[in-house]
Amino acid sequence: EPRIPVGFDFTDPAVLERRVPREEFAELRRTAPVWWNVQPRGSAGFDDDGYWVVTRYADVMAVSRDSDTYSTRENTAIARFQPGTTRADLEMQRVIMLNVDPPEHTKLRAIVSRGFTPRAINALRGSLAERAERIVRDAAVRGTGDFVADVACELPLQAIAELIGVPQHHRRKVFDWSNQLIGYDDPAYGVDPLTAAAELLAYAMEMANERQLNPSDDLVTKLVNAQIDGEHLTTDEFGFFVMLLAVAGNETTRNAITHGMLAFLEHPEQWELFKAERPRSAVEEIIRWATPVNVFQRTALVDTTLGGQAISAGQRVALFYGSANFDESVFEEPERFDITRSPNPHLGFGGSGAHFCLGANLARLEIELIFHSIADHMPDIRKVAEPRRLRSGWINGIREMPVRYR
Ligand code: HEM
Repeated sequence: EPRIPVGFDFTDPAVLERRVPREEFAELRRTAPVWWNVQPRGSAGFDDDGYWVVTRYADVMAVSRDSDTYSTRENTAIARFQPGTTRADLEMQRVIMLNVDPPEHTKLRAIVSRGFTPRAINALRGSLAERAERIVRDAAVRGTGDFVADVACELPLQAIAELIGVPQHHRRKVFDWSNQLIGYDDPAYGVDPLTAAAELLAYAMEMANERQLNPSDDLVTKLVNAQIDGEHLTTDEFGFFVMLLAVAGNETTRNAITHGMLAFLEHPEQWELFKAERPRSAVEEIIRWATPVNVFQRTALVDTTLGGQAISAGQRVALFYGSANFDESVFEEPERFDITRSPNPHLGFGGSGAHFCLGANLARLEIELIFHSIADHMPDIRKVAEPRRLRSGWINGIREMPVRYR
């Protein structure tokens, strides 16, 4: 029997606001790698009374790879929904490709996947490097500030806005919507995700109308022109596609950057090593260490077994990347931040299944570029107060990190 306190809930925003429950994960990996987490019926917006907590690397990988058995259509996000969220709101989100199973998923993903290949992303290297440099230099002249707002947020926002085709003067709005849609458990974002969603969808339609008149080579134009089996996307499909692209890369990449910086500040010898040698392996270790998406879920379509545990059709199965990435059977001394770690087959971008992060190459490039700029222009960066964590049931986030840049 695992020693987990009665009533402990692995997706309680209050838990993740304090810390990632690493000891509890380790306990489950040892004693009950597929463990039933009781939730009072209906409390999380799902009309069941709990979900399976999957903590071992091999089991997370097995579920990710098997979309015939484990579906995403009952929503990938496990977080509790705001009061007022209706069944219809959730139904609508089924058109988001993250919540669509193959083979339909494959057709949706194909519309945009060419924009995210290593070659396509590498073509952005020059312009993103310049942007990273400018972001870091602008922050450095301020002397002190909030690393999250000044540095970590900016490159992900600018990069994805550029790809989607959001003009500069609308980017701040997209940023706020993105915070509200992902960080909705945290009162700091003043939060009404449903209103944010409605506004973002309306804005996406404005962009669609504009691109029909003035096509460009951005993702919105691709989505406007896309056809699946001879049909254009529906209004909902289009709008939610833009929404997914706009929000998926913001909170995630920002937190990889912030956790990476924090890890360097807490492991000065690794920062010295990075500045001196800039090992390419650093990016993967930063993502493993950060694991910005702590958990996504699947729903079993049929009765099955996982890691020796029977799972019934209809039950939810939660993949804790934040545990898998610290699984001692895969990672030697997982609690050590080691930027030379190699190989580093972390699951920060999900397992290698159909939904493997579309933006992985973009995120990697952004992280590489921003840390190179930081090493160049703020080599002596220091923490001046403890960071404040994000209140969220599924994002391992830092909302604020006061630092001295130089
Ligand atoms: C999916 C993490 C950056 C777009 C995912 C998944 C994870 C993830 C865990 C789900 C994988 C699965 O279910 O198997 C991250 C992390 C990032 C990051 C940790 C930063 C460090 C980005 C960026 C974009 C992006 C920059 C840019 C558009 C997406 C999309 C999906 C996805 C569209 C859904 C893919 C699908 O359903 O086929 N990401 N992501 N992500 N990510 Fe990322």
